Amino acid sequence: TPVTSTLRSVASFPVGAAINPSLLTGKPLYRQTLETEFSSITSENHLKMRQVHPEKDRYDWSGGNTIVDFANQTGKRMHGHALVWHQSVPDWVTQFKGDSLAWENLLRDHITTVVKQYKGKIASWDVVNEAFLDDGTLRPTLWLQNLGPGYMARSFQYARQADPAVKLFYNEYGQEYSAKKLAAVLAMVADFRKRNIPIDGVGLQMHTNIDHPDAQIENAIRQTAATGLLVHISELDVRVNQAKTANFSPTDALWQRQKAKYQAIATAYRTIVPPAQQHGITTWNVSDADSWIPSFCQCNDFPLPFDKDFKKKAAYDGFLTGLKP
Ligand code: G3I
Repeated sequence: TPVTSTLRSVASFPVGAAINPSLLTGKPLYRQTLETEFSSITSENHLKMRQVHPEKDRYDWSGGNTIVDFANQTGKRMHGHALVWHQSVPDWVTQFKGDSLAWENLLRDHITTVVKQYKGKIASWDVVNEAFLDDGTLRPTLWLQNLGPGYMARSFQYARQADPAVKLFYNEYGQEYSAKKLAAVLAMVADFRKRNIPIDGVGLQMHTNIDHPDAQIENAIRQTAATGLLVHISELDVRVNQAKTANFSPTDALWQRQKAKYQAIATAYRTIVPPAQQHGITTWNVSDADSWIPSFCQCNDFPLPFDKDFKKKAAYDGFLTGLKP
């Protein structure tokens, strides 16, 4: 009997998806697709500060536990997302009044508590997420404003102190379209290494589309791999509805271009990143039905390898082909 190929069975590195606890418990096909096709799990929202740390002295592990337990029980690698970000911050933090020492304690306590909670259960963490603007300057977040530019390095140090074994990532979007942002991330990595600040890897989110040139994607992967750190394509999706039109229905030609883009990205990653640096490729969500894109763009789009009924799309075939050594 022929054995059916799956994403995780053909790939020589982890293939992941960003997931949601309510779908995991409420939608059997979702869970089944994850178990069959994927070997790594990222929490889409439930390890973010707003969800996990809703009040100053209260943590809520419920959503995070559902996801982490699923990953641990099914033998999948668990990637934590994200400790320090400017979005999904709880109200008590946006309203927080305190001097720089009080802010530093807040940052350190949050990182320490969350990392320790999942010590041994989470293999890698996005420590700082999206700290640069497209022009390569530091994003003026509440963290930067209250803690100064050193908050990034200190976040990595606090995470390392809380779990000496967990892999620490800087995660960012847009390195494939902004040369300045790519350069800023690489300069930060070089600076960290010069100063012995712990960092193990860089995430290229890769929220992309069928029109984006392969050469730019390859360039971002190549330059990031040249750091010698782990490289994670951490939030992959490929939009087809470029004009964001309503009631959009892709033609077969567009499905084929989406397939080609998935194949090109997986091939580039597999061939450019040395095997020892391959942390894997993670898609942002599982199927077109649970993608974040439609609610974000207020349009319909179909950015993932599985359709709304969890059927494999042409994009799946392209992804599978690109993953296969
Ligand atoms: O949970 C509430 C729900 O109670 C409420 O009824 C509903 C009404 O809007 O909102 C729900 O929260 C939303 C949450 O997603 C869960 O669905 C938030 O408003 C919404 O802002 C949040 O969006 C998430 C976004 O990050 C902000 O945290 C997206 O799902 C998630 O896909 C997106 O992921 C980010 C990565 O973390 C970082 N890189 C970019 C990526 C896409 O923006």
